[in-house]
Amino acid sequence: MKGVIFTEFIEMMEVKYGFTVTNQVIESAGLKSEGIYTSVGTYPMLEMTSLVSSLAAITNESENDLLRAFGNHLFGRFQVLHPSFIERYSNSLDLLAGIEGHIHQEVRKLYDNTELPYFDYQIEDDIPVIYYRSTRNLHFFALGLMEGCFLHFGENYSIELSPAGKDQWKFKLTENAQR
Ligand code: HEM
Repeated sequence: MKGVIFTEFIEMMEVKYGFTVTNQVIESAGLKSEGIYTSVGTYPMLEMTSLVSSLAAITNESENDLLRAFGNHLFGRFQVLHPSFIERYSNSLDLLAGIEGHIHQEVRKLYDNTELPYFDYQIEDDIPVIYYRSTRNLHFFALGLMEGCFLHFGENYSIELSPAGKDQWKFKLTENAQR
């Protein structure tokens, strides 16, 4: 997994939980890297799993909730780190439909050794649906990224997450009426 995901995760922990907790998490995760990452480096996915489970143990939050909150936070950071990827879209659905064919393609050009998931955007019975496939099963992370995306565009959608086969998840996006 790319280092940028790790550096952003560490920074989120520092801001949300403080340095003492962050150091505790890094220590108890027993990381080969000792928690030292560069954004262009590549590190084992196992280190991310260990960081998330050790943060969950220390804060008493669920791993899924933490991954979701991290995804939400990271979308905000992508606006700062990669504004050009986001600026060309005027709404969330267009952006989400463009992850596979555009955004993650650009990510592949920018970083080497990427292992990106597969996204398939569909309209089923007039409702936008996104299929996500990855052996990493980071669907709660994807959920948080989608929520961050809706927040960015000031749009209000409910997301229904359900399993859709081996290593595959379905996100059904229903727009909520404006109040
Ligand atoms: C500007 C926008 C975005 C950028 C720059 C970006 C970049 C990246 C990068 C660098 C990785 C790590 C790849 C690796 O470790 O090899 C990644 C992974 C991932 N991205 Fe994006 N991404 C963006 C938007 C999104 C959005 C909107 C979603 C929403 C669903 C998404 C879902 C994911 C997921 C789930 C992964 C984890 C890999 C996996 O599941 O196998 N990304 N992305």
